[in-house]
Amino acid sequence: MSEKKMPMRAGGAAARIAVIAGDGIGKEVTPEAVKVIRAATAKRKRALEFVEFDWGADKYLKEGVTLPAGAVEMLRDEFDAILFGAMGDPRVPSNQHAADILLGLRFKLDLYVNARPVELLHERLTPLRGRTEKDIRLMVFRENTEGLYVGVGGFFKKGTADEIALQEDVNSRKGVERIIRYAYEYVVANGLKQVCMSDKSNAMTFAHDLWQRVFKEVRAEYPGIESRHLYIDTLAMEVVRDPGQFDVIVTCNLFGDIISDLTAQLVGGLGVAPSGNIHPGKTSLFEPVHGSAPNIAGKGVANPFGSVLASGMMLEYLGWKEEAQVLRESVKTALKENVVTADLGGAKGTVEVGDWLARFVERA
Ligand SMILES: NC(=O)c1ccc[n+]([C@@H]2O[C@H](COP(=O)([O-])OP(=O)(O)OC[C@H]3O[C@@H](n4cnc5c(N)ncnc54)[C@H](O)[C@@H]3O)[C@@H](O)[C@H]2O)c1
Repeated sequence: MSEKKMPMRAGGAAARIAVIAGDGIGKEVTPEAVKVIRAATAKRKRALEFVEFDWGADKYLKEGVTLPAGAVEMLRDEFDAILFGAMGDPRVPSNQHAADILLGLRFKLDLYVNARPVELLHERLTPLRGRTEKDIRLMVFRENTEGLYVGVGGFFKKGTADEIALQEDVNSRKGVERIIRYAYEYVVANGLKQVCMSDKSNAMTFAHDLWQRVFKEVRAEYPGIESRHLYIDTLAMEVVRDPGQFDVIVTCNLFGDIISDLTAQLVGGLGVAPSGNIHPGKTSLFEPVHGSAPNIAGKGVANPFGSVLASGMMLEYLGWKEEAQVLRESVKTALKENVVTADLGGAKGTVEVGDWLARFVERA
């Protein structure tokens, strides 16, 4: 992530982190991540303040409240970042609280970058034969506020044999430009070589024609960066065949949702996948990719790596690169020494792994 000067920390004030653990295993992995962040930042004397919010299914079922009134403004004005766990509870089949809270924050805080790093931390995690850590390291940037996910559409003759359902793909020039530009700026800031923009402009001749034209304009501003275009179906094949050929992939909301799950699986899947929902310079949200995992919730066996790696992304966003690197190293070393939960073939519990990581970052 490029470093940002956060407005809330002017004058040496503490960075303020809102912690929304949410539901299910969100409530188990998030405290472990906070423990590891505290250990890494205390050693380096970084001022950090955590404020916990109990938003989630329990509150919704008790009080009927999802995202409380004024919450978005408070997070926007008083916090630097949000550490998020997961939302989803079988007692709320509509998933209303999750939609209001998580999608509400993504849209209302205008978190237009969904950043999904894809890094192989141990070769045994990849299903690809013969690949090692040096072969898989790339970043997927998914547009996070537009596209097919804005909820514009409707039914005609619903429930009849003649039913028609429409779902509009909404792409603004501003929205397309800012996510493509973010991808180039990331490449520049991190000394990388290439941006690959992916769309389906051969079939989606209006929406993705706009992506093509904006890509052409923005790429012209970065002559030193290799610019590449692949249709999304070709990208899906290429990224499995040879992930090492990519530095940064940028694409629309729907394609990014799918391709980033595919790439996550190349490096170990849900338990180790982090993500950031970012608006540069503003309060941004960091979370593991996994959900609330009701099937293992409450058993103390959830893997905290995704949440710890998301915390590393958050620290990097706050400008604390050294701490971010230490968190990454802690997970990498735990994998090497097999200090892992059952999903990765180990026998450790969530808290045991969290304690081990905290001790590692204190020593590092
Ligand atoms: N960002 C979010 O908050 C988010 C994301 C995805 C799903 N959800 C919600 O979570 C609920 C469950 O969804 P799901 O079952 O499809 O997806 P899930 O990610 O919760 O679980 C899928 C599978 O992966 C396992 N798993 C996930 N995270 C793990 C971890 N850290 N350690 C070990 N195993 C882990 C689970 O046990 C389960 O078998 C649903 O309500 C869904 O809507 C929320």
